[in-house]
Amino acid sequence: MTIPFSSTDPAANPVVRTAARADVEQIWELISCYVAEGLMLPRTLEQVTMAIDNYVVAVAGSRVIACAALDEYSPSLAEVASVAVAKSEHGRGLGTEVVLGVERLARARDIGELFALSLSDRFFLSLDYDATSVSRYPEKLARYGRLTSSGVDIVPKRCFKKVLGNLWERPAIYEEPAKQLRAS
Ligand SMILES: CC(C)(COP(=O)(O)OP(=O)(O)OC[C@H]1O[C@@H](n2cnc3c(N)ncnc32)[C@H](O)[C@@H]1OP(=O)(O)O)[C@@H](O)C(=O)NCCC(=O)NCCS
Repeated sequence: MTIPFSSTDPAANPVVRTAARADVEQIWELISCYVAEGLMLPRTLEQVTMAIDNYVVAVAGSRVIACAALDEYSPSLAEVASVAVAKSEHGRGLGTEVVLGVERLARARDIGELFALSLSDRFFLSLDYDATSVSRYPEKLARYGRLTSSGVDIVPKRCFKKVLGNLWERPAIYEEPAKQLRAS
């Protein structure tokens, strides 16, 4: 499915779009930069490849400079995960753009609620997420449990949620009045 992502001037600005197979390695490298700092959970190249349809990227030329992913837990609930912006590009609104791209993906898939875990409180608050408790999401706690038992260190983060509701409407389909159809 093709989803239009915003970019006011594609010639001057990075393009924000759904990810493609060719982006896998650069997404993995971007995420790996922050894994060592404990800001993000590790992902293998294979995991990124398998989930590539869930990623949104910001690209300048052929360089991936930001990414985020929609990690689905149920037909109505997903996590905004793997939000990363290249260090040289912080503060330009790219984090905001890729998260908004993930929200578009979620709406297109009829997912009603998103949550995110982050140490950057202001980032998700600025995107109209509300602070909540991760205990609302037992599926996430179960996943943390599995990671901990496999030796991954989990840095405690704050939890944010957003209910997408009906803010996004499908384009109206124009139907020819029956009378006109009969006349033609
Ligand atoms: C957090 C991160 C994704 C923000 O990306 P960005 O492109 O710099 O963010 P934006 O320019 O879209 O900023 C949006 C808002 O978030 C705030 N913000 C950005 N980075 C922030 C940070 N590290 N901590 C707190 N607030 C932050 C900005 O001040 C801005 O708010 P404002 O409009 O009120 O000024 C980026 O710093 C990053 O990649 N961090 C390392 C990876 C990480 O921590 N990932 C998990 C976070 S979900």
